Amino acid sequence: MCGIVGYIGNNQAAPVILDGLARLEYRGYDSAGMAVFDGEKLNIVKAAGRLKILEEMTHGGSALKGCVGIGHTRWATHGIPNEENAHPHFNENETIAVVHNGIIENYIFLRNMLQKKGYQFLSETDTEAVVHLLDYYYKGNPLEAIRKVLHRVEGSYALGVIFAEHPDQLFAVRKDSPLIVGQDENGCYIASDVPAILKYTRKVTYVDNQEIVRLRGDHMHFYSIDEEEIQKESVMIEWDANAAEKGGYEHFMLKEMYEQPKAMADTLLPRIKGQDVVIEELNMTDEELASIRKIYIVACGSAYHAGVTGKYVLEGLSRISVEVDLASEFRYRNPVMEEGAMVIVISQSGETADTLAALRESKKRGFRVLGIVNVVGSSIAREADSVLYTWAGPEIAVATTKAYSTQLMALYLLALKFAKVKKTVTDQEFPGLLEDLKKLPDQIELLLSNKNPIQRFANRYIGAKDIFFIGRGIDYAISLEASLKLKEISYIHSEAYAAGELKHGTISLIEEGTLVSAVVTQPELYAKTISNIVEVKARGAFVLAVTNEGNFEIEKAADYVIYIPETNPYFSNSLAIIPLQLFGYYVAVGKGCDVDKPRNLAKSVTVE
Ligand code: G6P
Repeated sequence: MCGIVGYIGNNQAAPVILDGLARLEYRGYDSAGMAVFDGEKLNIVKAAGRLKILEEMTHGGSALKGCVGIGHTRWATHGIPNEENAHPHFNENETIAVVHNGIIENYIFLRNMLQKKGYQFLSETDTEAVVHLLDYYYKGNPLEAIRKVLHRVEGSYALGVIFAEHPDQLFAVRKDSPLIVGQDENGCYIASDVPAILKYTRKVTYVDNQEIVRLRGDHMHFYSIDEEEIQKESVMIEWDANAAEKGGYEHFMLKEMYEQPKAMADTLLPRIKGQDVVIEELNMTDEELASIRKIYIVACGSAYHAGVTGKYVLEGLSRISVEVDLASEFRYRNPVMEEGAMVIVISQSGETADTLAALRESKKRGFRVLGIVNVVGSSIAREADSVLYTWAGPEIAVATTKAYSTQLMALYLLALKFAKVKKTVTDQEFPGLLEDLKKLPDQIELLLSNKNPIQRFANRYIGAKDIFFIGRGIDYAISLEASLKLKEISYIHSEAYAAGELKHGTISLIEEGTLVSAVVTQPELYAKTISNIVEVKARGAFVLAVTNEGNFEIEKAADYVIYIPETNPYFSNSLAIIPLQLFGYYVAVGKGCDVDKPRNLAKSVTVE
């Protein structure tokens, strides 16, 4: 969601900015622009649509001369994606340029106030209020103008700002939207995320809320909102630029699906010591863990779906009562929460606005918050009381696969840890469960190696209007994620239903030939789900079943069967989701969709 890149140094800024923005394309956007100071004035180029258009307009950046600039990919919130609404925005004299990620909540108030003072607005964006406000406060000292603006704006923002009167400086500031800065021998960089600048430096500094950074060609200074200079630590990024490249795969999504075995092993193995699960990051004693009777899991999108599975696994293995909430609901529903409960927030990016707000709401109420997070140093990772990192590495495709899988793994580990300290699993059963977890990476590898039949099957459904996913218990949770995967990248309407709920409405949607995917991995529910398969078949459905090896009975009811290797039913999500991810992927590829960057979606949703 909106990407920011800025550069100041010895090199030409525009190519650096274009390259950085291309590496942030995964965040989702619908227009792009940049502003570069050419020694006399700020030149601003903007275009609706893909970054390619901006590249063509500027001949790969070479037509925009200058060594200081800011660029932006915009994911529209206020105003349609057109040239006027694209960033950078500028003041009337075009002496100040601003790029922004986030939402200025009091922009209508600011806009009215500024219009009364004679400011003309050219766009429908909330951002334009910021640039006119900067102009209003600017009396020759950029830092002072920025500080005054920060006192007036409400909402979330990461901003990059250039003042034509101070072309030897570039400014960056943030609150609740991500922003990092970095430096190499050729200059200083700002960006919404690490991949944009990893080519130049691995040493990055995370800008904290309401901090202002003044970047020059050879150094950076950090200031508080009260203009006091502050010292900051930088961190070394462990993964390299190749991890954020396609590496020969047709799409990031395919590459990331193939990275699942390694990501799962990386998340699991360091936390297994002998016959025990050791999660040092929790910073809790076994007694403290054993005293927890209630868990709230809060997340968005696929992370929420991981949470739904987590509920079944945690309740089943450790007998702790678990409630799962969508973060956007949780934050405003004034939930009644049990004293002493633990809150688990799950987020790949660690920046999702609603999940971050849920975390803050929980902390405000005095609850301990554990973050299950993939991006090291992200806002959620920094604000949670403890962090269980998922070691999936950078995930670029908008539709998550490997991060989702590692979120499941983190939840399994927690469930086993709780089960051990609460003694809800016997000492005889425990090693078997650990063994099953250890086998998952190889089993996933096996499922991935069998992609061809799934591709052939998927090709039959590129013209489908609706596809349904059904299952019970954990199989319902798997269906939720499988349905989301399919619809977000292929634009085919799809819904997931608890199989037992079908006859309360959804069954009326089944027509001759409608594809229904039934997930049937929970042995004690086989017979129940098979009855539902029979019901939809009687209404003309074609049924694809995903089930456990050995459940051959299902062939009597289903039309097409995919078998998954044997594992404990609590962990079957990790296996059943693989062919369904591949199915969604190949349907989208067959339709010619932009798999890695589906329309209207963003990877990191930093607005509520
Ligand atoms: C977006 C992404 C999803 C993701 C969700 C939550 O919608 O497209 O893949 O599941 O945000 O993101 P998070 O970073 O909090 O896991």
